Parts: sequence; structure tokens; C-alpha cells
Amino acid sequence: MPYIDSILKEKRVFYPSHEFSRKSHIKNMAEYSKLYKKSIESPEKFWAEKANELEWFKKWETVLRNDMGFFKWFEGGRLNVSYNCLDRIVKSGKGSKTALIWEPESGEGKKYTYEQLLKEVCKFANVLKKLDVKKGNVVQIYLPMIPELPIAMLACARIGAIHSVVFAGFSSDALKDRIRDSNAELLITADGSFRNGKIFSLKKNVDIALKECPTIKNVIVVKRTDNNAYIANGRDAWWHELINKKEIKDICEPESMHSEDSLFILYTSGTTGKPKGILHTQAGYLLFVYLTFKWIFDIKENDSYFCTADIGWITGHSYIVYGPLSNGATVVMYEGSPTFPKPDRFWRIIEKHKVTIFYTAPTAIRALAKEGDEWPNKCNLSSLRLLGTVGEPINPEAWIWYHNVIGKNKCPIVDTWWQTETGGILISPLPGATPLKPGSATKPFFGILADVLREDGSKANPNEGGYLVIKNPWPGMLRTVWDDPQRYKNAYFEKFGVYLTGDSARMDEDGYFWIMGRIDDVIKVAGHRIGSAEVESSLVSHKDVAEAAVVPYPHEIKGQAIYAFVVLKKNAKKSGQLNDELKKHVAERVGPIAKPDKIQFADELPKTRSGKIMRRILKAIADGSKDYGNITTLTDPGVVEILAKNRLN
Ligand code: WT7
Repeated sequence: MPYIDSILKEKRVFYPSHEFSRKSHIKNMAEYSKLYKKSIESPEKFWAEKANELEWFKKWETVLRNDMGFFKWFEGGRLNVSYNCLDRIVKSGKGSKTALIWEPESGEGKKYTYEQLLKEVCKFANVLKKLDVKKGNVVQIYLPMIPELPIAMLACARIGAIHSVVFAGFSSDALKDRIRDSNAELLITADGSFRNGKIFSLKKNVDIALKECPTIKNVIVVKRTDNNAYIANGRDAWWHELINKKEIKDICEPESMHSEDSLFILYTSGTTGKPKGILHTQAGYLLFVYLTFKWIFDIKENDSYFCTADIGWITGHSYIVYGPLSNGATVVMYEGSPTFPKPDRFWRIIEKHKVTIFYTAPTAIRALAKEGDEWPNKCNLSSLRLLGTVGEPINPEAWIWYHNVIGKNKCPIVDTWWQTETGGILISPLPGATPLKPGSATKPFFGILADVLREDGSKANPNEGGYLVIKNPWPGMLRTVWDDPQRYKNAYFEKFGVYLTGDSARMDEDGYFWIMGRIDDVIKVAGHRIGSAEVESSLVSHKDVAEAAVVPYPHEIKGQAIYAFVVLKKNAKKSGQLNDELKKHVAERVGPIAKPDKIQFADELPKTRSGKIMRRILKAIADGSKDYGNITTLTDPGVVEILAKNRLN
């Protein structure tokens, strides 16, 4: 059943057990409503009170300032993010508590206590210093899910360098574009990575990318696979050789950072053009991920928390690294595929590490549900007490399966809505308080004024779909687009004067939010955010392609998949072989996650008289809805029928 139909029919409500509520941070809706009201009426007071839970080298002077549309939090304050995630926890007596459990795809894992992690971070911070990395420099990180990834990020934070992590599943072209935008001088990578038992030569991608990245002076390479990676003289060095040098001490004074100094850049796809470097800063981001993690995941001293995201995305930044560690939690990170060697891998990890809180994406839930209940049923999942999802709307069928088969009907599910730009979760249940409706992300977090607007900016009625906006600033929000402040203003604030999320949503009569999906040209493929512009420009970079337009269509497992319409150049011949070649071309140029599932060759695309491609119409062809709307403005309305007739099933 399509997502929209199934959520409209969904009327069930699930309440947290008395037992769960009693022990949770926020225990009921009355408590939520009271505190929510306070947080909206006096946001500065609310956030200042919470900020006192962090450790500051110097207290702030102003909580919030609007500097011509650029928001500043906790100005005048000084702190260090790595200090708050490590030293502060060690000082509180938890040095011997496990911070990180690393589960490799195969072979033996590793565990780090807070004390050990602090030492590793300090050592690597000293390595970076030796290589002349200074406060404010950008460090590019292109690593698989190995402990060196969070260690590198925290080491950057310790010395005030700005990290910019690129998902290791991206291609050399995508890496190159990001380095050329960030102007990083140092890159951290690995010789290779494992996925589904296969080795991917990350370092090869790096060597190709660096041919066109003159700013990079040093490359640090983690040895992960023994695949004899090429080590360039004078430029490249092994991580283990650098870190084991005698002069590298395991103590490194944390840099005292201004609240609004940059912490990291993370690139994400927007409506048009190249990916945007979303910039997050120190204090506000840390506070926001600290508090959302604490309350939404209801973290307790003995929890074992497993998030299946890749640290290359914002979920991993906020809820594998900074949120959990600043709460002194034990985090499980997993290197490989959910189905390697068998489709019970996640459930085995839960059993092995007695995971209590499990956070994953709807696409993984759907894929694993399809493998059959026998896989989870063979494992002992009794340690679980709370489940979470993120990345795309969850259809009620998948929600119910997750609730029954994984949570055994006793674990609340937090359906967390947020974005790279928001830094942390904005709309989500509080597990001990919020009655759950499958498919709804429920209510806004404290301090978040979410709303649904019509095209003209007026407020939509209950259950009327519209633009999801956030009407007030919050500490974890992006501060700007790297090197492009104008784009920050245009993309997010131009339309309504308040933060535009790019999603459509409706709010029901109980004030619950139902996210419907992207309203712009972003496609959520298996929860990954892909810009149609990126896929289109990689298609037209192929010698045989004249024009391309890509749109989403509903996919049973991935939620959405990519459907491309391609017009070939005069001399090129339509063939199955060329079709395959184009798919491969996109996978190589952008990354395997951006590969179109379907490519339809077309002689013409539907265009307005001003030459604009009407993606709305292509979408209605691709998804088979035939919901074309008005087609009379097209230069040639006949094009639509022809395309529809040749639609790929
Ligand atoms: C987009 C942001 C936030 C971490 C991972 C994605 C979609 C995210 C939900 C949810 C419905 C969701 C939205 C959003 N999305 N969470 N719980 N329900 N949709 O971050 O890559 O920046 O993507 O993901 O469309 O705009 P991102």
C-alpha cells in the first residue's frame, strides 16, 4: 500500500508502559507540555539552564543574538567539545566505563574505555599538531566505520580544527568536489574498507581525487586491509607509524574555543547545483545533541546503545559521536553491511553486546523484515528497551513489525525527524511520555516551534498538507553554508522568513506531525539524501547524453528510488548496453547509492515555453499516478503521452 494511503488509514495509538514512564526523564504529557511551554516562552532561560550541565572554560555573556539573520548562541563563552565528551566524563569517575564498542564486519572487535579513548584522541591530536594543523584549519576525513574515524573527529575538536567528513561510500569525484569546496590541507583516509566481505580501495579514490586538489599537503592513511595501497613520498604517511612515534604524548591540552567557532562542515544535497557545506559550531551544537540524546533516547547509566548509521552522515556525527559521548554513554559502532554474513547481523550484535537502545532507518527495517521473522527470533533481543528510526517516513506496516518482532511489544519507538542542517532531532516522541501513532514523528522537542504553512505563508488547517517550517532559532541549527552565506539565506529563509525544511507535512487534530516527504528536488534513496541535480549532471557528463532529468518513484524497500529520463545525443544509439553503462557511470561519478534504478530513453522532455523541464510531470509518469496537473503550458503537451506509453515498470 502506498505510504500516504496507509498512514491515512492508520488510527492505532500506543502508550508507554507504566514501568517505562516511571523511570524515564520526561514521564508524561503533562510534564512535556509544561516544560515545552516554558521553553517556547523563555527559550533563553531554558537553554541557559541546560547549558550549565556542560563544562565551560568561561561562561557565556549572551545566550542568543540575531546578527542580520545569522544566529549566534552563547557568545562570550569558551569550551572544548572533546573535553566535554571525554575529560569531563573521566573526571566524573567514569574513566573505566566503556565508551566505544567497535564491531567489525569480520574479525575481532575492539573496546575503548573513556580513559583509553581520551588517550587515543590526545595522541592523534598531537600527530595533527606535528603536521602543522592549526585552529581553524579544515581537515578532510574519508574513512570507513572504524574507531579511527571518531578518534580523528574528536582530535580535530580538541585542537580546534574543523573536520569535514565525507561518507566513504562516495566516489572520488564526490570527494574531490568536497575538498575543492572546503580547501582542506590535510586528509585522513584508509587503505581500504570492508563491505559484504569485499574490499573497497578507498586510497585509490583518494589518489584520483587528489590529482585535482592542490590544497591537500598531507594524507594520513589507516591500515585496514593490507591491500598494498600506494603511499606517495612526502605526502602520505601511515596512521600507526605517526601515532607510535616516541615524541607523541598521550596528553594534549584542549584548545579553548569560542562558542561560535566552527566545529565541522558536512556536505549535503540541496535543490540545485553542487552540495552545500553545512556548518555547525561548538557550544550550541554540543548542547543540542547532548540534551536531545539524553531525553529522546532516555539514556541511563547502564545502557548499551547501538546506532546503525554511518558516521559519514549527520546521524553518526550527532548520535554516534557527540550526543552519546557527551552523555557518558556506551556506544556500539558497526563497520559492515546489515546482511553480512547473514541477515541476522544486527540482531546478533544486539544479543552480543546486550544492546538496550537500537536506532536505525526505515529502509533497513523493511529490508530485514522481508528476510523473515526467523532471523530476529533466533536471537535473544530481551535486552532491548527502546527503539528509534530516522531518515525517511516509516510506513505503519514497518513500524508495527519493528514494534512486534524486534521490540516484542514492550519497547517504545522514537520516530525522530531532523536534518543535516538541524544538527539534532527536532520532532520526536519522548519515549516515557508521548502516545505513539505509527508513521508520525509526533511532537516538537523543547524550544522548537514547528508549523505547517501554505504557499502564501498562512497556517494550514489540521490535516492539510503544506510546507514544514521551524519558526524560531535553536542551538543546534546550522550557522551558514560554508563559503556561501547568501546560499544559507536564500535556501532556508527567503521563502517565508522562517527556517524552511524542504519537507512537506501535515499536523493532525492532536498536534502530531506527519512528514510526507521532500517538496524540493531532493530524493531520499534508502534514507540517503541525493540531489537530483547531482545525478543529472553526472548523466550529462557522459559523452552520449544530451539531457537528463531524474525524479523519485516509490520503492518497496528503499522508500524512494531514482528514475532517470535521458535524451541521447544525435549519433548515440539507444541500447540496453548503454543503459547499463549510464547506471555504472553515475555510480562511479557520485557513488553507488545514487545509481538510478531505471533509465528511460526519451526523444524529448516536457518543457515549458521558457525551457524549464517539468519534473512534476515526469514524477507522475515515473510513479504511474498520471497525476500530471496542468500540461497546457508545455511547448508540446503530446510529449507526455509518449513518455507515459514507454514508461518502465
Ligand atoms: C531529510 C533530512 C536526520 C538524519 C538523517 C537524514 C527526511 C529524516 C525523518 C523522519 C520522515 C525524515 C526528511 C528530511 N527525514 N528523518 N523521522 N520521518 N522523514 O538527514 O540526510 O539531512 O535528510 O530526511 O525528508 O528533510 P538528511
